[in-house]
Amino acid sequence: MNILSIESSCDETACAIVKDGTEILAHVVASSKDFHEKTGGVVPEVAARKQLEFIVPVIEQTLTEFYGDSIRKKRETKSGKGIDAIAVTVGPGLIGSLIVGIEAAKVLAFAWEKPLIPVNHLLGHIYANFIQEKGEKPKIIDFPSIALLVSGGHTDLILMHGHGDFEYIGGTLDDAAGEAFDKTARLLGLVKYLGGPLLSQKAAECTNNTISGKLPRPMINENNFDFSFSGLKTAVKRLVENNNYPVDVVSCEFENAVCDVLVEKTIKAVKKYKVTSLLLGGGVAANRQLRKRLENKANNLSVKFYVPPIELCTDNAVYIASVAYFNYKPKKIEEIIADPSLGIMD
Ligand code: KG4
Ligand code: ZN
Repeated sequence: MNILSIESSCDETACAIVKDGTEILAHVVASSKDFHEKTGGVVPEVAARKQLEFIVPVIEQTLTEFYGDSIRKKRETKSGKGIDAIAVTVGPGLIGSLIVGIEAAKVLAFAWEKPLIPVNHLLGHIYANFIQEKGEKPKIIDFPSIALLVSGGHTDLILMHGHGDFEYIGGTLDDAAGEAFDKTARLLGLVKYLGGPLLSQKAAECTNNTISGKLPRPMINENNFDFSFSGLKTAVKRLVENNNYPVDVVSCEFENAVCDVLVEKTIKAVKKYKVTSLLLGGGVAANRQLRKRLENKANNLSVKFYVPPIELCTDNAVYIASVAYFNYKPKKIEEIIADPSLGIMD
């Protein structure tokens, strides 16, 4: 089954065509990130306008990748030949951005008379793990699994009994892990917007963490699977206010603190629920320390570890098609609406 998927929840406009939830046939992403860098954050109005500007060219480019030459594309595009269903992100995200992708998906489903499947963006980050690498066989992931979703807006631990059978076991009580990275990067004067990757780069430059243990590891020993990262950011503020530590050293200590907590609690969940696999997803899954440490721990426990390639950790439409395929629940076009505050279990 080939699913054409659309993702427009924030500042990426993306479209993809994916076979059987695992094989990428076409994949296009346009980003308005550069515009938000100028203002130091996403201005929802600007993001929505950029979605409007990019959506048709992005879909068109996806169809070109899928159909090839222009005569065939012109002919097949009329009926959406070879495409079995449409999937679209309905939330969470910015309302103005979401609406653009949803309306485009509705028009395609209506004109081509295809089923339309609404998809939760957060599950998408987890399902990026099901996408097969070019030239490789489809991945068979055995359940039960623990999934750690770490993005700019969410930090959630999910117990997956199977497709469509998820249990929320814990999550952040305040800031998400990505948000903590971004706010700390800004505090350290690295960059105003989405500074997580740069902070991590700085941390990698540190050869001697002279302040090891100076930052707290919030909730690390608490007997639950919840997290709290807002105090960590405040602790960094205090640390740099009173001392003159180099940025790479502070970055390293901060990254270690976040990873210590994420790794400890995730592995505790892996052990408690005796799962066979561990899945990491979301923008912060691009963090090299987090990937490596979870992989090593999972290996020691003979638990299979999965993490998407870096380019599929950030927002794209490929994983939206994967969620739609493995949790196939089409809805009537008129019933599909944007839900900006959709939670992972909704
Ligand atoms: O999942 P995502 O693309 O957007 C949301 O849906 O939220 O995640 C973006 C987040 C940002 O906070 C960004 O700073 C963080 O992921 N991020 C990283 C790294 N790469 C991206 N955080 C830490 N280390 C990285 N290497
Ligand atoms: Zn995302």
